[in-house]
Amino acid sequence: MGRIAILVVDDEAVIREGLQRTLDGERFAVETCRSGHAAIELLQDKDYDLIITDLKMPGMNGIEVLKAVKGLQPDVPVIMITGYATVDTAVEAMKNGATDYISKPFTADQIMEKIDKSIEQRAVLVDDMYLRKEMSNHHGFDAFVGESREMQKVYRRILQVASSDSTVLITGESGTGKELVARAIHRSSSRREQPFVALDCSSLAENLLESELFGHVKGSFTGAIQTKMGLFRVADGGTLFLDEVANISPSTQSKLLRVLQERMITPIGGTQPIPINIHLVAASNRSLKVMVSEGTFREDLFFRLNIIPIDLPPLRERKGDIQLITRHFLQKYNSELGKQIRGIAPDAVAFLEEYPFPGNVRELENTIERAVVLAEGDIIHKADLELAEREVHEPATSGHVPTSSEELKEMKRHIRDKAVEDIEKAFVMGALERNNWNVTHAAEETGILRPNFQGMLKRLGISIKSQYAK
Ligand SMILES: Nc1ncnc2c1ncn2[C@@H]1O[C@H](COP(=O)(O)OP(=O)(O)OP(=O)(O)O)[C@@H](O)[C@H]1O
Ligand SMILES: [Mg+2]
Repeated sequence: MGRIAILVVDDEAVIREGLQRTLDGERFAVETCRSGHAAIELLQDKDYDLIITDLKMPGMNGIEVLKAVKGLQPDVPVIMITGYATVDTAVEAMKNGATDYISKPFTADQIMEKIDKSIEQRAVLVDDMYLRKEMSNHHGFDAFVGESREMQKVYRRILQVASSDSTVLITGESGTGKELVARAIHRSSSRREQPFVALDCSSLAENLLESELFGHVKGSFTGAIQTKMGLFRVADGGTLFLDEVANISPSTQSKLLRVLQERMITPIGGTQPIPINIHLVAASNRSLKVMVSEGTFREDLFFRLNIIPIDLPPLRERKGDIQLITRHFLQKYNSELGKQIRGIAPDAVAFLEEYPFPGNVRELENTIERAVVLAEGDIIHKADLELAEREVHEPATSGHVPTSSEELKEMKRHIRDKAVEDIEKAFVMGALERNNWNVTHAAEETGILRPNFQGMLKRLGISIKSQYAK
């Protein structure tokens, strides 16, 4: 057995370094970080066997870290470090699923004992978790079709987050099934009997959006003829799905942030904050991370939303699912349209598997629906598939000449970025190929620290799993 991987989260260097010094060695491999946000980023990439987190930290506190762990790696024990051993905080920590707590100051022996106890308990928890998963599998995600490894990962995430209240951010290109995921989370959760409320944030102007979300008091502005409850309260006890969340204005962003921090809502024109209990699920087809770096989306709100990320891969990256999904829609439209198409010809399958599907599953669905309508025989042939002309996207340079200094600057930057990215990709792929796709070895060979190498892979969109699958 390898060493037990422990993550220590504490804003105080003394504690971090102390624990690292005492624990890191033959039995334990200790990593540390200084904030809740950093911890969540690490947890998204790597599995740990135990988390030790401080309760009181600026930004994101230990309870929030704990909740995120429950969403991301539910069977990992969490030990909470409390500064003031008040009964309250300890109780709250345990209520939220902490395995144990320890109050400062503590000795090496004391923490060791807690660690041993937590790890023993873990074996039981893993079984329990397995059972829960099995049970929820019987509920099934009937609506989902697809057995690719990428989708399996998505199903697993859905089940995990359904049993937590941590905020979920679903990203993926248009038509990849973001709304389907949001509904599946709700249906698999204990909130399933409560409302599922969806709002497309791009559909309303700023002030309307705010009163739709937060509600308003009668007479609080011109046009507020009646008191409005607001969707946060309509969804109370259930799930609120904020679609196209990238589209909300800076002012609404800060209001949303406040609601998420305080779990309280004050209607426009109201004075009394009202507590709310919702599971927030947000979706975006634009990368919020990029928007943060461009300064158009608040970073702190991004962190709040992105506690549990679910990224839906584009259809072209899970070609194995194309046939399954095609057959599913054939059946669906056969029965809806009263047709009896028996199947799809190999040339048509090959064509679908080659097509890049910029509109993803939705485009495939529309294509099949059209084909079912148009097909004259009982088999769909390539000629029945009318797909958009395949475009080769060569951005920036393709023949276009800039006409202003601004545009010239922008294009130069773009070309440089692209060239740098290309050479980085070639570099990383070369190292991976030479090392049999072993990231640790590839990182070692190139002299890059493993986490940094991993970061590069992520940034360049290179996924080791899909390389293996080929
Ligand atoms: N894995 C899947 N299996 C079956 N149907 C799917 C799957 N993924 C998506 N669909 C179907 O494709 C259509 C588009 O899905 P959905 O509306 O959830 O996409 P979206 O990501 O929200 O798109 P947009 O960004 O354009 O809003 C829906 O009809 C949905 O039922
Ligand atoms: Mg959608």
